[in-house]
Amino acid sequence: MSSFSEENGELYCEGIPLRDLARKFGTPLYVYSKSVIQENCRQFISSFSEHSTEICYAVKANYNLTILKTIFELGLGADVVSQGEFERSLKAGVSPTKIVFSGVGKNKGEIERAVDVGIAAINVESLSELLLIKKIAEEKRKIVSINLRVNPNINVKTNPYIATGLYQTKFGIADELITEMLHHLKAHPLIQIHGLACHIGSQITELHSFEKAAVRLKELAFQLKELGYPISRVDMGGGLGISYKKDELAPSIAQYGETLLKIWRGSPFKLYLEPGRAIVGAAGGLLTEVIHCKQNRERHFTIVDAAMNDLIRPCLYEAYHDIVPVIAKKGTPLVTDIVGPVCETGDFLGLRRSLTPLETGDLLFVKTAGAYGSTMSSNYNTRVRSAEVLVSGKGVEVIRRRETLSELWQQEI
Ligand code: LLP
Repeated sequence: MSSFSEENGELYCEGIPLRDLARKFGTPLYVYSKSVIQENCRQFISSFSEHSTEICYAVKANYNLTILKTIFELGLGADVVSQGEFERSLKAGVSPTKIVFSGVGKNKGEIERAVDVGIAAINVESLSELLLIKKIAEEKRKIVSINLRVNPNINVKTNPYIATGLYQTKFGIADELITEMLHHLKAHPLIQIHGLACHIGSQITELHSFEKAAVRLKELAFQLKELGYPISRVDMGGGLGISYKKDELAPSIAQYGETLLKIWRGSPFKLYLEPGRAIVGAAGGLLTEVIHCKQNRERHFTIVDAAMNDLIRPCLYEAYHDIVPVIAKKGTPLVTDIVGPVCETGDFLGLRRSLTPLETGDLLFVKTAGAYGSTMSSNYNTRVRSAEVLVSGKGVEVIRRRETLSELWQQEI
């Protein structure tokens, strides 16, 4: 679903002209559509409604408090990977019993906090972590719910930096070592092993990869049940990809649901999911203004006021984001690199894009930047991070104001 539309050559978000948002709030500006976020949440809920399922939004994809609140209000839980994400989620109103804590390097303080509050599950990724949890549970005399995150050694088609299901990555416990690991815990009174978890990667558009992971997890879950472990949950992680290019096909949330339910339907396991990108990715974009245009011999550059510090995905993963003029212009298209002001050649938002010639003051919209855009932004080159607005049928809300320069050195001595 998209609430970004073009009418008479001009771009709108939920009926509000992007041009007005730029004028009112300045650029660079992250613009999100509330109805797209809500619709994606509803799609997840309805696609899994026939099986007991907890949908825990992966907070890392976009953790703005208002966005979290919007998502939690629809009944979703949270998947967090740090105490920061944990505290944010609580602040945004999620019930701790709907939080799963993932991540390969949870430290003592983070585990203690999760144990104190009492969450749905800590997804354990190593023996070292398991022993630390055991120690903390014994010190606090508290019961801790855990899932074991399995590494099923599945190769997925995505950028290697975000493929997490292979033995050669740091994630999870190799599937063949799971039973061995459980011997360290046999019937520990304070550690409740509720289930198994996995997350094989992100931006996955081939459904058979999820199917393969589910088949492996199911096999293991039944194996453990037979060994007497009370496995009652399976957490399939996140990873559903979205379409960044017009010709890039991504499965729908409903198709993803059908793929997983084919495996889990009728099973005794409650399903947990951790979608991030599929909920917020297409719900947002980055609005930016052209500062200068220049030609360096054979290459033409459009220099805009958003940069790699605002959206690092193109530079880090060679990710493609569609970039379109906010107001369509006439003229013969020109091939141009859309770059930011940061002093690195890697500072680009899009290379070799064919656009009608632009000039200083024109606005561009970098599409599908709602996930891993703002949350991966930084202050590199001592640039303030973008402001963020949420557009809904009722109007526009500033959900993060632009930083001020003095805030950037406030903590320094
Ligand atoms: N669960 C776990 C344990 C994860 O590590 C992740 C993402 C998710 C869920 C959510 O995955 P999603 O549904 O959003 O694909 N910065 C990269 C993506 C990194 C994903 C890391 N883990 C990007 O910009 O593409």
